Amino acid sequence: MLSRPQIPDALDYDLDPQTGFVLSQAVDLPEYYRPWCQLCSDLPQLLQTRTLRARVDSLETLSPEHLVGPAYWKRAYLVLGYLTQAYIWQDKTNPSPIIPASIGDPFIKICNHLGTAPVLSYAGSSLSNWMPLSDNNGHPDPAEILTDFSRIKSYVTFTGTRDEDAFNMVPSMVEATGGKLITLLLDIIRVERTGHAPDLLPVLQICSSTFKRMAEILSILHQNCNPDFFYHQIRPMLAGSAGAQDKGLPDGVTIYCSDGSVVVVRCVGASAGQSSLFQFYDHVLGVEHGSKMLVTMRPYMPRLHREFLGAVEALPSLRDIVDCHYPDDGEVLAAFQLALDALRHFRTKHIAIVSRYIVQPAAAEAKRMLADGLQPVLEEKGTAGSKPVPFLKQYRDETVPI
Ligand code: HEM
Repeated sequence: MLSRPQIPDALDYDLDPQTGFVLSQAVDLPEYYRPWCQLCSDLPQLLQTRTLRARVDSLETLSPEHLVGPAYWKRAYLVLGYLTQAYIWQDKTNPSPIIPASIGDPFIKICNHLGTAPVLSYAGSSLSNWMPLSDNNGHPDPAEILTDFSRIKSYVTFTGTRDEDAFNMVPSMVEATGGKLITLLLDIIRVERTGHAPDLLPVLQICSSTFKRMAEILSILHQNCNPDFFYHQIRPMLAGSAGAQDKGLPDGVTIYCSDGSVVVVRCVGASAGQSSLFQFYDHVLGVEHGSKMLVTMRPYMPRLHREFLGAVEALPSLRDIVDCHYPDDGEVLAAFQLALDALRHFRTKHIAIVSRYIVQPAAAEAKRMLADGLQPVLEEKGTAGSKPVPFLKQYRDETVPI
């Protein structure tokens, strides 16, 4: 007899029941890593004065062996991810095609340990980047503090601004809010395994209210992050090395290691398109997408998160469970429809963000260049490489019951 795929335990995949894929402990790196942390604290100023590269060139190469637990590895990944991006893009018109071993060697080791592509991804820039704004309140509950933008900031930024905090923190707030659904939804599948009809109605109602709350959180971005500042100051620093010929990186980026070996990288930049949470929802709710573009983003997730998605995809979806146990139950079918409507509504609000933060500033920039007699380059691709609005509209329109 064929054995049925196991229902994954979120804890085995480095997921927190309260914060989902978001780092649950806002740790500081140990004292040994002070040279990295100092560079990160000084990063906005070092980028402004274009002196970051010189500082990195003279940095001693530290070892990852003092990272004592998963939260520390993730923080170190974030710190070195920012330093590598800053090294490349300190001079946007003359990006560096190499990363020296001083940061390159530990970065490669840390990425190998986490099982992720050697580039700053969404797991670093957003999911591992929050910290309490002040520690006046002792040790606040991470899930609670992640509901309040006025109480959190980024561990590392390129610009030292609240605009960048909003850009980094809003996805974490959305993810922490939505992360609570993970164990709830897996429990439904667990109950179904016992041969009983799970109590779907209340869970579907919680899904609807959670997706609505997640959509509401997006307004914090609108209130705190200026679109032009995002487009001109933050976004270029997150650019990847894949398809970056026009930006001065025809051969990607070469990362040097201490033993003289090199790793040649052609990776996309950080994007919430690398979120594991939304791919989890899509499978569990039985949403199917024609484009597999976001599946190609999985190498940018930490290995455990990628493996979690693989384990979930071997399970039946809630759609299957509805069909099996409640095919004619109008109340359950309506609740299922409402949950998908709420997820679809989140995607509609997200498209408005992409329009305001990418499409409109890109069009304004093209107009400015034309007025200056220059050939405009329409820079409206997503950092993960999509032509965003048609792609995201298709994604949104596919968020329907099948
Ligand atoms: C200035 C802010 C934002 C911009 C410019 C932006 C842009 C984009 C773009 C262009 C994509 C398509 C993939 C790519 O090519 O990169 C994408 C996908 C995605 N973004 Fe955002 N995004 C922003 C904020 C957010 C926030 C706050 C969230 C909340 C978690 C989010 C969640 C997602 C998700 C889940 C996808 C995958 C598509 C889907 O499942 O619907 N984004 N984003």
